[in-house]
Amino acid sequence: MDKKIFIVGCGPGTKDLITLRGKKVIEKADVIVGSTRLIADFVRKRDIRTLVLENNYQKVLEDVDRLKGDKRVVFLVSGDPLFHSLGERIIERFGREICEAVPGVSSFQYAFCQIKESWKDYSVFSIHGDKDIDINKVFKENDRFILLLDPEHNLKFVKIKIGSIPKGKYRFYVASNLSMPTEKISDISFADFDNFPEESLSLLIVRREDE
Ligand SMILES: C[S@@+](CC[C@H](N)C(=O)[O-])C[C@H]1O[C@@H](n2cnc3c(N)ncnc32)[C@H](O)[C@@H]1O
Repeated sequence: MDKKIFIVGCGPGTKDLITLRGKKVIEKADVIVGSTRLIADFVRKRDIRTLVLENNYQKVLEDVDRLKGDKRVVFLVSGDPLFHSLGERIIERFGREICEAVPGVSSFQYAFCQIKESWKDYSVFSIHGDKDIDINKVFKENDRFILLLDPEHNLKFVKIKIGSIPKGKYRFYVASNLSMPTEKISDISFADFDNFPEESLSLLIVRREDE
């Protein structure tokens, strides 16, 4: 037998949103890979081998590739493992046969539970890490959408790309640090995009109001 790779979605932040299956998989791991925060939050065995992810995922994937024997390697990822996540790259690298993904609660699902609305009519886009998304096209072609942001590709970045929008045409919610003690969900106007105090973990919900 060779190694087996598990990718566990740990939810958007708080420890109690991981699934029971995710917890069981972590308990049986031989090696755990994840950010310092996820390792601190979800790994209880202190003597287990851990590999810390911090802008070094290529090297970490190579280190995992070099591991010998029938080890159970568990990657901890935030939210859902197959929603704008490292999960995709892990599966590409090691192949579907040896990988198992454990679903997690995604940041956007949690945000919609908090605003108590259905997300069934929304499309999802990410400018986290940029990804060459044409934001003007996204606004033109979608009346309802979610945009994952990052500290560089933030509200100011969106405003520069879009230029101007008639007042009242859209409703915007910014949801930050979801499920954490500092969680904040704000209903803002396009004019606020310039000076809104942004958190590094944020997503934007956009709904056209003049339909
Ligand atoms: C690389 S993506 C990971 C998405 C994750 N797999 C998920 O299912 O939510 C990271 C982006 O997701 C969003 N995000 C993740 N966790 C969040 C949270 N707790 N609060 C707000 N946004 C969050 C932010 O836009 C962040 O830049």
